[in-house]
Amino acid sequence: MKKLNVIYLTLVLSLTSNLNFSCLAQSWNDEKIDSLINLMTIEEKIGQLTLFTSDWATTGPTIRENYLDDIRSGKAGNIFNAHTAAYNEKLQRVAVEESRLGIPLLFGYDVIHGYKTIFPIPLAEAASWDLNLIEKSARIAAEEATAGGLHWTFAPMVDIARDPRWGRVAEGSGEDVYLGSLIAGARVRGFQGKDLSSPNTLLACAKHFAAYGAAQGGRDYNTVDISRHALWETYLPPFKSALDAGVATFMTSFNELDGVPASANTYLLKEILRGDWNFQGFVVSDYTSINEMVAHGFAENERSAAMYAFNAGLDMDMQGAVYYNYLKELVDQGRVSVNDIDTSVKRILKLKNALGLFDDPYRYSDIEREKSVILSEENRTAAREIARQSVVLLENKNNTLPLSKTEKIALIGSLADSPIDMLGSWHGSGQSTDVISTLKAFTDQKMNFEYAKGSDMEGSDTSLFREAVDKAKNADKIVLVAGEHFNMSGEAASRAHIRIPDIQIQLLKRLLALHKPIILVLINGRPLCLEWESENMAAILEAWQPGTMAGLAITDVLYGEYNPSGKLPITFPVDEGQIPVYYNMKNTGRPMDPDQKYTSKYLDIPNAPLYPFGYGLSYTSFQFSQPSVDKTEINNNDSLHFSITVSNTGSVAGHEVVQLYMRDLVGSITRPVKELKSFKKIYLEPGNSQKVSFTITPDDLKFYNSDLVKIAEPGEFLFGIGNSSDVELNLKVTLK
Ligand code: NOJ
Repeated sequence: MKKLNVIYLTLVLSLTSNLNFSCLAQSWNDEKIDSLINLMTIEEKIGQLTLFTSDWATTGPTIRENYLDDIRSGKAGNIFNAHTAAYNEKLQRVAVEESRLGIPLLFGYDVIHGYKTIFPIPLAEAASWDLNLIEKSARIAAEEATAGGLHWTFAPMVDIARDPRWGRVAEGSGEDVYLGSLIAGARVRGFQGKDLSSPNTLLACAKHFAAYGAAQGGRDYNTVDISRHALWETYLPPFKSALDAGVATFMTSFNELDGVPASANTYLLKEILRGDWNFQGFVVSDYTSINEMVAHGFAENERSAAMYAFNAGLDMDMQGAVYYNYLKELVDQGRVSVNDIDTSVKRILKLKNALGLFDDPYRYSDIEREKSVILSEENRTAAREIARQSVVLLENKNNTLPLSKTEKIALIGSLADSPIDMLGSWHGSGQSTDVISTLKAFTDQKMNFEYAKGSDMEGSDTSLFREAVDKAKNADKIVLVAGEHFNMSGEAASRAHIRIPDIQIQLLKRLLALHKPIILVLINGRPLCLEWESENMAAILEAWQPGTMAGLAITDVLYGEYNPSGKLPITFPVDEGQIPVYYNMKNTGRPMDPDQKYTSKYLDIPNAPLYPFGYGLSYTSFQFSQPSVDKTEINNNDSLHFSITVSNTGSVAGHEVVQLYMRDLVGSITRPVKELKSFKKIYLEPGNSQKVSFTITPDDLKFYNSDLVKIAEPGEFLFGIGNSSDVELNLKVTLK
């Protein structure tokens, strides 16, 4: 830090006369940043536009091995996949004390759902429908990550995803624009807090801009070909919401849009992001996505790719080394302007400054804070809370659940004893040794049970079946923990058949032959096709990949310590042949009629999914009164007030998510059959009732017309309130 200031002081003094040097050790203003840029060579400027991975972890091809030399020479201004207070301090010292200008490094990392205390995967967190909890999870992740030397997370991932074959559905908030947008904002607020200069806040990054979730066939990195209207209506709103919450950075996506890869897409980066949205932060590419424009067939070579990307407004190159290799040459040839480079450098330096790195580049490397914050009791308790609130009860025949502690349980399945698989595919620096598995939770809490592995997660070895069947024979109920291992979802993990692997199903069938109630606890990173399971299981708990506290959260729900309240943030199909299937589809010109051949349907499977968006059961029962609305006709500036009374008619307390859906019956652009417009999560003791109110403003009636202008068109609207997207819309309102 001393060298940093001395160098700045000397160099700045020699070149400028109007700076207030007394505040050099405090946050820098724009002029000071400009004067620093004036001191930089073109190589040093390009260094600030360059992000290299350390050799600690990689999520793609590793290109550079000598990143320390690059830091020293000022050619790498940003590093990712390096963490811990000690290691990052070591790297920071190289930048600050050994590089010519001593500009601090920015350290990035994929802190997607926790740093060391791992929370449920984002899709699971979305199932909690609890924005405060989701914000808190991001806040804790930021506290831990910053204590581990980090400044920047590559999160939130805000891609709307409607194809469960795509492994990256695990990382987002599901299929819905409204829910996804609210969660995007909550996560940004959680990561960034109120003040970026506070040492426990991180820069967030809205990714992947844009429409990555629309990869054809759910195959990762595949082509995207959607209408402009779908882009604005479905894929952009969560990004806008992240922006409105103050997100500091954006990451481009791997896919093309309108035939132009996102990393060189001027429509996305210049017209929308910088133009319409006036975004002030910086944009980073995804891992080698600039280089990949050659394979896309968009750029003839990496030099051109660098030029197209930079000129389209992409500030920072992640791991591709194409800015590093070609930008100077492109400047010399007059194909890239130095002014534009200065603008990008300034965006990056401003954020380094906002983090307080010019005041103290080591402020995020505090070993004492690292020890006290990471995996603290408080953080683990919060992780347990959100994990149990993320669990969705899909089936519960004859009130099989909750279990009673007197019942003898056969706990079966390799996933009951596989800590790493509880963490999901992006588990940051989370360790399997910190995870409480279901087996451990059962053991520690001295449940009345016997455990058998039963089978591996995949393969064909049936040799362990017998032991599992024998143990199950002695039990009152069977709890089978089954599903996907952590690498079956996430990046580069698309699946054509989204089912529980066959060996686990074979085991399940053997257990079923015992005619005992089976409770299936699902561990998975995406919706699965569960038609057979829904018919044959006594109960199904969707636990997703619940994180560090997995076993405790699952046990809390199984034994009724927590009454499940999760609601699906994404539709579960009956069969892969239905995909894409999501609740707010269009009606079509020939809506499904089972008695009419020439209507929109399949001959061999139904149109309706197995479990719709918004669905989830509880151990209690909730009764919804007839909803009411205060007006049946409104003008463009009237609001609507809806209310409904919800009663807990069962015998235990519980949360319910009360959901309001709308349909705009006629539009100049056809409207979906349902759109979620509002929701409230309430808590009711048995026998209690609560009146739940919603206000719908004229803004909520708007959609993008063919000129991509948001308007509300006069006509009839239907509304309904219920506990899933299956609700009937029975309140009619006319907009005059
Ligand atoms: C590629 C992924 O697409 C992106 O989400 C991630 O942030 C980067 N790799 C860095 O790990």
